[in-house]
Amino acid sequence: MSKNKLLLMVLPIIILVGCHQENAAEKQQDAQRTASELISKVVLDVPPDHGGEHAKKRQVAFKEMAKYWFVIRVTVDGREAFDEQTFKIYAQNFADKAPQAFNHFQKDYEDLNGSAKDEIWTEAVKFKHEEDQFLAAVTKFNQKAANLKDVSAIKPEFEVVAQSCASCHQAFKKAK
Ligand code: HEC
Repeated sequence: MSKNKLLLMVLPIIILVGCHQENAAEKQQDAQRTASELISKVVLDVPPDHGGEHAKKRQVAFKEMAKYWFVIRVTVDGREAFDEQTFKIYAQNFADKAPQAFNHFQKDYEDLNGSAKDEIWTEAVKFKHEEDQFLAAVTKFNQKAANLKDVSAIKPEFEVVAQSCASCHQAFKKAK
């Protein structure tokens, strides 16, 4: 996938899976297809990848995660219809992608650290704490999503994750 294409992310347009599948495997396939159609339609308002080698890698990883997050968000707030199977797949993808950016928080040469603030390295313990809290919240969210009948039941877990994104961005990510 080209970097520019990574900017093309999901906007919810798609009609969710019908309810007459013969079996679970077919239903799973349909949900997967719906998810990828949805993801190809969202445009995420984020800057292009910028900075050095590590910075770009973590930006790509964050965006990969964020495209699932945005579909989850519009489903939780009711703009997109809830389908149990589809939601579960989004949540699983989101949880799989969530740790990946954190493999790329090495410093690049001076001034090439993208939108990462210096405090990531000067206050490494605090940053690690934000990361750990975030990943724990994502795990709880995904566990709840695995067996969800009513989307409103996951709002508390959703909020904890959302606040974790915001908290870390506020402390450690430069404003656009
Ligand atoms: C522990 C800290 C931390 C957490 C938690 C975190 N982020 Fe970030 N995020 C960052 C930092 C730092 C950057 C800047 C990366 C860079 O440019 O080098 C970033 C960049 C991004 C980017 C790249 C595009 C941009 O605007 O620069 C997206 C998209 C993003 N985050 C979304 C999210 C979402 C959505 C969540 C929660 C589901 C989240 N992040 C959670 C620290 C975090």
